Amino acid sequence: MIGNDMVKDIEKVLISQEELSKIVKDLGAKISEEYKDRDLLLVSILKGSVIFMADLMREITIPCNIDFMAVSSYGSGTKSSGVVKIIKDLDKSIEGKDLLIVEDILDSGRTLNYIREILLARNPKSIRICTLFDKPERREVDLYADYIGSRVPNEFIVGYGLDYNEYYRNLPYIGVLKESVYSE
Ligand code: IMP
Ligand code: MG
Repeated sequence: MIGNDMVKDIEKVLISQEELSKIVKDLGAKISEEYKDRDLLLVSILKGSVIFMADLMREITIPCNIDFMAVSSYGSGTKSSGVVKIIKDLDKSIEGKDLLIVEDILDSGRTLNYIREILLARNPKSIRICTLFDKPERREVDLYADYIGSRVPNEFIVGYGLDYNEYYRNLPYIGVLKESVYSE
């Protein structure tokens, strides 16, 4: 990757910067309305959701706290390994908090299902899921998000925090990766 041009690996732009900003704005407005009398704690799942989280929290107009959690579920490939490991846990207790998990994309659902179980056991007041993207046809467990930015087709996408092999997170839009990149 070093010295390469990221853009040449992109087959097409799926969601532009302008579209992303509209999607995130709408989610922020909805969350602000529905959580206005609650003790909102946004929990961002690293690293894929950092950019979404940073933009979403600025579209939320009510008081809230934030925290971060890191898990590993994917190796360097494009398919779930089924193994989920906590790499960084939350800093504080979530007891009594109204948790909103902020995730980049729901694919098989395995990662979030696992995280949700762990967090539920810690007695938050409520727990909901906000995912920027959803690939419903790929689901392998019974899990639904409460807030969905956009449904996406069954293609491997990168940018706006989403990676392939840890690269492309800094693309400002959502692109579909050329198949030649991951079949190499
Ligand atoms: P799941 O456990 O199969 O739902 O996987 C969810 C995680 O896989 C996401 O948080 C992403 O890190 C990664 N992922 C799934 N689909 C894509 C994609 O199209 N592009 C980039 N990452 C993806
Ligand atoms: Mg990832």
